[in-house]
Amino acid sequence: MPRDAGSRRYLMCPPTHFQVTYSINPWMDPGKPVDLSLALTQWEDLRDRYRALGHTVELLDPRPDLPDMVYAANGATVVDGRVLGARFAHRERAAEAEVHLEWFRAHGFTEIHEPSHINEGEGDFAVTSTYLLAGRGFRSSPLSHAEAQEFLGRPVIGLDLVDPRYYHLDTALCVLDATADEIMYYPGAFSPGSRAVLARLFPDALIAGAADAAALGLNAVSDGRHVVLPQAAVGLFEPLRDRGFEPIGIDLGELLKGGGSVKCCTQELRP
Ligand code: ARG
Repeated sequence: MPRDAGSRRYLMCPPTHFQVTYSINPWMDPGKPVDLSLALTQWEDLRDRYRALGHTVELLDPRPDLPDMVYAANGATVVDGRVLGARFAHRERAAEAEVHLEWFRAHGFTEIHEPSHINEGEGDFAVTSTYLLAGRGFRSSPLSHAEAQEFLGRPVIGLDLVDPRYYHLDTALCVLDATADEIMYYPGAFSPGSRAVLARLFPDALIAGAADAAALGLNAVSDGRHVVLPQAAVGLFEPLRDRGFEPIGIDLGELLKGGGSVKCCTQELRP
Protein backbone atom coordinates (compact mmCIF):
# COMPACT_ATOMS: atom_id res chain seq x y z
CA MET A 1 0.00 0.00 0.00
CA PRO A 2 1.54 3.32 -1.03
CA ARG A 3 1.60 5.84 1.75
CA ASP A 4 0.08 9.31 1.75
CA ALA A 5 2.37 12.25 1.12
CA GLY A 6 1.49 15.46 2.90
CA SER A 7 2.40 18.78 1.36
CA ARG A 8 5.12 20.46 3.41
CA ARG A 9 6.63 23.88 3.84
CA TYR A 10 10.40 24.02 4.11
CA LEU A 11 12.89 26.76 4.85
CA MET A 12 16.24 26.49 3.07
CA CYS A 13 19.29 28.67 2.47
CA PRO A 14 21.42 28.47 -0.70
CA PRO A 15 25.11 27.64 -0.11
CA THR A 16 26.20 30.84 -1.88
CA HIS A 17 28.93 31.46 0.71
CA PHE A 18 29.49 27.87 1.81
CA GLN A 19 33.06 27.12 2.91
CA VAL A 20 34.81 24.93 5.43
CA THR A 21 37.07 27.43 7.17
CA TYR A 22 36.73 26.07 10.72
CA SER A 23 36.06 22.65 12.19
CA ILE A 24 33.29 22.15 14.74
CA ASN A 25 32.51 18.53 13.92
CA PRO A 26 34.66 15.59 12.78
CA TRP A 27 33.42 15.82 9.18
CA MET A 28 34.89 19.28 8.70
CA ASP A 29 38.46 19.52 7.38
CA PRO A 30 39.43 23.08 6.42
CA GLY A 31 42.34 21.62 4.43
CA LYS A 32 39.97 19.85 2.03
CA PRO A 33 38.78 22.02 -0.87
CA VAL A 34 35.08 22.59 -1.46
CA ASP A 35 33.73 22.90 -4.98
CA LEU A 36 31.31 25.77 -4.48
CA SER A 37 29.59 25.59 -7.85
CA LEU A 38 29.04 21.85 -7.38
CA ALA A 39 27.68 22.51 -3.87
CA LEU A 40 25.21 24.97 -5.39
CA THR A 41 24.11 22.56 -8.11
CA GLN A 42 23.62 19.76 -5.59
CA TRP A 43 21.63 22.03 -3.28
CA GLU A 44 19.47 23.29 -6.19
CA ASP A 45 18.75 19.70 -7.09
CA LEU A 46 17.41 19.12 -3.56
CA ARG A 47 15.32 22.30 -3.65
CA ASP A 48 13.89 21.45 -7.08
CA ARG A 49 13.12 17.93 -5.91
CA TYR A 50 11.03 19.25 -3.04
CA ARG A 51 9.15 21.58 -5.37
CA ALA A 52 8.54 18.77 -7.85
CA LEU A 53 7.01 16.77 -4.99
CA GLY A 54 4.57 19.64 -4.41
CA HIS A 55 6.22 21.15 -1.34
CA THR A 56 6.72 24.85 -0.72
CA VAL A 57 10.32 25.97 -0.29
CA GLU A 58 10.96 29.31 1.41
CA LEU A 59 14.41 30.86 1.19
CA LEU A 60 16.69 32.64 3.61
CA ASP A 61 19.18 35.22 2.35
CA PRO A 62 22.67 33.76 2.77
CA ARG A 63 25.23 35.93 4.56
CA PRO A 64 28.90 35.96 3.49
CA ASP A 65 30.15 35.81 7.08
CA LEU A 66 28.06 32.71 7.92
CA PRO A 67 29.35 29.80 5.80
CA ASP A 68 27.24 27.18 7.64
CA MET A 69 23.91 28.91 6.94
CA VAL A 70 23.12 26.31 4.29
CA TYR A 71 22.34 23.97 7.22
CA ALA A 72 19.04 25.74 7.78
CA ALA A 73 17.60 23.00 10.01
CA ASN A 74 19.66 24.35 12.89
CA GLY A 75 18.08 27.81 12.97
CA ALA A 76 14.76 27.07 14.70
CA THR A 77 12.14 24.44 15.49
CA VAL A 78 8.61 25.18 14.30
CA VAL A 79 5.70 23.14 15.62
CA ASP A 80 2.00 24.15 15.47
CA GLY A 81 3.17 27.45 13.95
CA ARG A 82 5.15 28.22 17.12
CA VAL A 83 8.76 29.14 16.60
CA LEU A 84 11.38 28.04 19.09
CA GLY A 85 14.47 30.02 18.14
CA ALA A 86 17.97 28.54 18.23
CA ARG A 87 21.01 29.39 20.29
CA PHE A 88 24.20 27.95 18.86
CA ALA A 89 26.91 26.14 20.80
CA HIS A 90 29.75 27.63 18.72
CA ARG A 91 30.40 31.33 18.26
CA GLU A 92 31.08 30.76 14.54
CA ARG A 93 27.38 30.09 14.03
CA ALA A 94 25.89 32.27 16.77
CA ALA A 95 24.65 35.04 14.45
CA GLU A 96 22.54 32.61 12.42
CA ALA A 97 19.92 32.52 15.18
CA GLU A 98 18.98 36.17 14.67
CA VAL A 99 18.80 35.80 10.88
CA HIS A 100 16.20 33.08 11.37
CA LEU A 101 14.24 35.08 13.93
CA GLU A 102 14.13 38.03 11.53
CA TRP A 103 12.80 35.80 8.79
CA PHE A 104 10.02 34.51 11.03
CA ARG A 105 9.07 38.01 12.19
CA ALA A 106 8.92 39.19 8.58
CA HIS A 107 6.77 36.22 7.52
CA GLY A 108 3.83 36.54 9.88
CA PHE A 109 4.92 34.26 12.71
CA THR A 110 3.85 35.77 16.04
CA GLU A 111 4.45 33.00 18.57
CA ILE A 112 8.23 33.22 18.79
CA HIS A 113 10.40 32.21 21.73
CA GLU A 114 14.01 33.37 22.01
CA PRO A 115 15.68 30.62 24.00
CA SER A 116 17.75 30.98 27.16
CA HIS A 117 19.50 27.65 26.67
CA ILE A 118 21.59 26.30 23.83
CA ASN A 119 19.59 24.39 21.23
CA GLU A 120 20.49 23.87 17.60
CA GLY A 121 16.97 23.72 16.23
CA GLU A 122 15.94 20.67 14.28
CA GLY A 123 19.50 19.45 14.42
CA ASP A 124 18.57 18.13 17.86
CA PHE A 125 14.76 18.23 17.92
CA ALA A 126 12.62 15.75 15.98
CA VAL A 127 8.82 15.74 15.98
CA THR A 128 6.77 12.54 16.01
CA SER A 129 3.00 12.44 16.54
CA THR A 130 3.42 11.89 20.28
CA TYR A 131 6.84 13.22 21.21
CA LEU A 132 9.47 15.82 20.73
CA LEU A 133 12.67 13.76 20.56
CA ALA A 134 15.60 15.79 21.80
CA GLY A 135 19.30 15.09 21.39
CA ARG A 136 22.01 16.20 23.80
CA GLY A 137 25.65 15.44 24.41
CA PHE A 138 27.42 17.53 21.78
CA ARG A 139 25.40 20.64 20.96
CA SER A 140 22.00 21.25 22.55
CA SER A 141 21.98 21.69 26.30
CA PRO A 142 19.85 19.29 28.37
CA LEU A 143 18.33 22.48 29.83
CA SER A 144 16.93 23.31 26.39
CA HIS A 145 14.77 20.20 26.58
CA ALA A 146 12.59 21.55 29.38
CA GLU A 147 12.48 24.91 27.65
CA ALA A 148 11.25 23.26 24.43
CA GLN A 149 8.65 21.17 26.27
CA GLU A 150 7.27 24.25 28.03
CA PHE A 151 7.05 26.37 24.87
CA LEU A 152 5.91 23.70 22.41
CA GLY A 153 3.70 21.74 24.81
CA ARG A 154 4.93 18.37 23.61
CA PRO A 155 6.43 15.69 25.82
CA VAL A 156 10.18 15.70 25.39
CA ILE A 157 12.20 12.51 25.28
CA GLY A 158 15.85 13.30 25.94
CA LEU A 159 18.36 11.16 24.06
CA ASP A 160 22.10 11.00 24.73
CA LEU A 161 24.37 11.11 21.70
CA VAL A 162 27.75 9.47 22.29
CA ASP A 163 29.57 9.30 18.93
CA PRO A 164 31.11 12.61 17.78
CA ARG A 165 30.39 11.80 14.12
CA TYR A 166 26.70 11.89 15.06
CA TYR A 167 26.81 15.15 16.95
CA HIS A 168 23.23 16.17 16.15
CA LEU A 169 20.14 13.98 16.60
CA ASP A 170 19.27 14.41 12.90
CA THR A 171 22.50 12.70 11.88
CA ALA A 172 21.35 9.50 13.59
CA LEU A 173 17.55 9.51 13.60
CA CYS A 174 14.82 10.40 11.11
CA VAL A 175 11.05 10.64 11.55
CA LEU A 176 9.48 8.71 8.66
CA ASP A 177 5.82 9.26 9.46
CA ALA A 178 4.99 12.23 11.65
CA THR A 179 1.32 11.19 11.91
CA ALA A 180 2.45 7.99 13.59
CA ASP A 181 5.47 7.33 15.72
CA GLU A 182 7.50 5.81 12.92
CA ILE A 183 11.22 6.48 12.80
CA MET A 184 14.52 5.08 11.56
CA TYR A 185 17.73 5.39 13.54
CA TYR A 186 21.26 4.16 14.08
CA PRO A 187 21.56 2.67 17.60
CA GLY A 188 25.36 3.06 17.70
CA ALA A 189 24.99 6.83 18.00
CA PHE A 190 23.16 6.58 21.33
CA SER A 191 24.04 5.68 24.91
CA PRO A 192 22.84 2.26 26.13
CA GLY A 193 20.04 3.87 28.14
CA SER A 194 18.85 5.96 25.22
CA ARG A 195 18.95 2.89 22.99
CA ALA A 196 16.69 1.13 25.48
CA VAL A 197 14.31 4.12 25.49
CA LEU A 198 14.16 4.12 21.68
CA ALA A 199 13.55 0.35 21.57
CA ARG A 200 10.75 0.72 24.11
CA LEU A 201 9.00 3.66 22.42
CA PHE A 202 9.62 2.62 18.82
CA PRO A 203 9.69 -1.20 18.72
CA ASP A 204 8.93 -1.19 14.96
CA ALA A 205 11.57 1.33 13.98
CA LEU A 206 13.72 0.78 10.93
CA ILE A 207 17.19 0.11 12.29
CA ALA A 208 20.04 1.45 10.17
CA GLY A 209 23.47 -0.17 9.97
CA ALA A 210 26.86 1.46 10.47
CA ALA A 211 27.62 1.93 6.76
CA ASP A 212 24.36 3.74 5.99
CA ALA A 213 24.77 5.88 9.10
CA ALA A 214 28.31 6.77 8.01
CA ALA A 215 26.90 7.92 4.65
CA LEU A 216 24.64 10.23 6.73
CA GLY A 217 21.69 8.16 5.50
CA LEU A 218 19.65 9.07 8.58
CA ASN A 219 19.94 12.74 7.67
CA ALA A 220 16.80 12.37 5.58
CA VAL A 221 13.49 14.17 5.05
CA SER A 222 10.18 12.34 4.76
CA ASP A 223 6.83 13.78 3.69
CA GLY A 224 5.09 10.63 4.86
CA ARG A 225 5.64 8.87 1.54
CA HIS A 226 8.77 10.14 -0.18
CA VAL A 227 11.95 9.84 1.80
CA VAL A 228 14.68 12.10 0.41
CA LEU A 229 18.05 10.81 1.58
CA PRO A 230 21.76 10.71 0.68
CA GLN A 231 22.04 8.33 -2.27
CA ALA A 232 25.15 6.66 -0.83
CA ALA A 233 23.02 5.14 1.94
CA VAL A 234 22.20 2.23 -0.37
CA GLY A 235 21.22 -0.17 2.40
CA LEU A 236 18.21 1.93 3.40
CA PHE A 237 16.39 1.90 0.06
CA GLU A 238 15.04 -1.66 0.18
CA PRO A 239 13.82 -1.56 3.80
CA LEU A 240 12.12 1.79 3.10
CA ARG A 241 10.39 0.35 0.02
CA ASP A 242 9.30 -2.69 2.04
CA ARG A 243 7.46 -0.29 4.34
CA GLY A 244 5.71 1.45 1.46
CA PHE A 245 7.96 4.50 1.28
CA GLU A 246 9.48 5.86 -1.91
CA PRO A 247 13.17 6.57 -1.29
CA ILE A 248 14.70 9.36 -3.38
CA GLY A 249 18.51 9.43 -3.41
CA ILE A 250 20.27 12.78 -3.60
CA ASP A 251 23.98 13.53 -3.90
CA LEU A 252 25.01 16.31 -1.54
CA GLY A 253 28.66 15.28 -1.47
CA GLU A 254 30.01 18.81 -1.21
CA LEU A 255 27.78 19.66 1.76
CA LEU A 256 28.86 16.44 3.47
CA LYS A 257 32.23 18.16 3.87
CA GLY A 258 30.56 20.47 6.39
CA GLY A 259 29.03 17.53 8.23
CA GLY A 260 25.52 17.78 6.87
CA SER A 261 23.20 16.41 4.23
CA VAL A 262 19.52 16.46 3.23
CA LYS A 263 17.90 17.08 6.60
CA CYS A 264 20.52 19.60 7.76
CA CYS A 265 19.65 21.72 4.73
CA THR A 266 15.92 21.57 5.41
CA GLN A 267 13.96 23.17 8.21
CA GLU A 268 10.32 22.12 8.32
CA LEU A 269 7.72 24.81 9.04
CA ARG A 270 4.93 22.86 10.72
CA PRO A 271 1.57 24.69 10.63
N1 ARG B 1 28.92 22.50 9.96
C1 ARG B 1 27.67 22.48 10.61
C2 ARG B 1 27.88 22.35 12.12
O1 ARG B 1 28.75 21.63 12.52
C3 ARG B 1 26.81 21.34 10.12
C4 ARG B 1 25.45 21.34 10.70
C5 ARG B 1 24.64 20.18 10.24
N2 ARG B 1 23.28 20.36 10.53
C6 ARG B 1 22.48 19.44 11.09
N3 ARG B 1 21.22 19.70 11.18
N4 ARG B 1 22.97 18.32 11.56
O2 ARG B 1 27.19 22.97 12.91
